This record gives sequence, structure tokens and C-alpha cells, in this order.
Amino acid sequence: MKVYLPSEIGFCFGVKRALKLTYDELKNGEKVYTLGELIHNPYVVEDLKRKGVEPVSDPSQIKEGTVIIRSHGADPSLIERMKKEGLKVVDATCPYVLKLRKIVTLLSKKSYQIVVVGLDTHPEIKGVMASIKEKRVYVVKNPDEAKNVPYAKKIGVVVQTTESLDNFRNIVKNLMEKGEECRVFNTICRVIRDRQQALKELVKRVEAMIIVGGYSSSNTYQLFRICQNLKVKAQFIEGEEDLRLKEWKGVKTVGIMGGTSTPKELIEKVKDRLLSIES
Ligand code: F3S
Repeated sequence: MKVYLPSEIGFCFGVKRALKLTYDELKNGEKVYTLGELIHNPYVVEDLKRKGVEPVSDPSQIKEGTVIIRSHGADPSLIERMKKEGLKVVDATCPYVLKLRKIVTLLSKKSYQIVVVGLDTHPEIKGVMASIKEKRVYVVKNPDEAKNVPYAKKIGVVVQTTESLDNFRNIVKNLMEKGEECRVFNTICRVIRDRQQALKELVKRVEAMIIVGGYSSSNTYQLFRICQNLKVKAQFIEGEEDLRLKEWKGVKTVGIMGGTSTPKELIEKVKDRLLSIES
């Protein structure tokens, strides 16, 4: 069996930054909390817990210490409240997410009807929605939902940083009919775009793909969806123990790709496990 990996694997810079800020706070001897799990990877979250980093869903659970805002960002009013209550807040919101928010604020000021392409349940989008006062904001996740967006003279479109470019393109096609003026901002993060492109290249060289990452990781799921759309055999796993080894017997070429919150070492372990099938 030949196993191929793309040149870029492991954490993106936004995740690396969030982890560094967290470790720096631990070094200071502070009690460290994260608002939600720091990244969408159970292995990393467990490791952080062992080191003393506690994820909380509700800031009222925190009486003192440092709170890390993960790379997805959070509701700005919540951050203000925590600061007022005397907590130290370390903001690790990714610059790509901040850029998306800036564009949304600008569109809102210029009275555009805003369409956010993405998942309304995703923390990044929840944070974006909480950061704007504008009420005429529609979150759409697929081309069909885009058809339900009401007509408006001016429409401004942005997209979740981890969305698939193909899905975004198809949604935008439908939104074009929804306004006289339709301004589209491709706010998908560059790392995500590069990974999706690298995956499409990799798929041409292999019989099957393994996508590694947390099941709750949006960008990892998008990689899996791309495989499905390209009709290549693919398995989405969190770690090497999830590999259904029997299925990989006889497969000659396999590609492995991970999301931006998947540690490099995890991908290497999956590779070793796969290669062990033949020995
Ligand atoms: Fe930021 Fe892109 Fe990573 S938005 S957190 S650099 S996936």
C-alpha cells in the first residue's frame, strides 16, 4: 500500500495561536478556562484538561482566573461582562473571523441585507450574529435555503471561514437573483481554501481517502463532503483506533488528510496503522 499525505498537515496558525496563548497562561500559574472546548479535537481537549485547562459552556461557572476565547470568537457582550466581573480574558479569536465580522459590520452600516453562508449552530456564526445589531441577517447552509432569502435592493454576502468553496459558489449563484446589487465577500480562510484544493489534487492520485479530525470539526467535515462529492471512497475518523482495517485490505493507494484542528502526530499514527495492515 502507498500512503500519500499533502504537504500541509497539522494545525492552522489560528489554532496554534490559541494553543500558545493557553499554554502561556498555564505557565503563569493561573487557573485557566476556555469558553467552550478550545478546539474541535477530543484528543487535544483531553490533553488540555490533564494539564489543568477546563472548558466551560457558561461563564457564570467561573469565579476567578483566566478565560481563553477560542479562535471561533464569542459574543462581544459576554466578553465585556466577564471583564467587568474581574476575570482576565485572553482573546484568541482568529484574525480571519475578525475580518469576517468587520465586513458584516460594514455591510450593516451601509444598509445591506446580509446573508451569512454557514451553520447557524456553529460557534463562529453565533459569535458573528451576536456582534451585529442588524436584524435582517439570514444564515443559509445550502443552495435550497438561499432560494428562501427575500428579495432586497442591496444584498451583502459573507461566508463562514471554514465553509466549502463549492457549496459557497452554488449558494451565491442562487443569491444573485435576490437583489439588484449583490456584493459577495469570500471570507473562507486561506488555509481552508488551500486544504480543499490540496485534497482535490490528492484525490486524483489515490483509490481512497481517510479524513482525520474531530467529528464536531466543521472544516474536517467539509473535507469529507468533498470526497463524497468527488465520489471517492472515504472514511472520516477521529483517530487510528477508528480505522476499519478490514476495509483497507487490498487498497493500493490511500491519501490521508486532516482538518486544521487535527494534530500532525495523529495523522502520522493513522499512516503507521494503515501501513501495518500488510506486515
Ligand atoms: Fe483561523 Fe482559518 Fe484556522 S479561520 S482558526 S486560520 S481554519
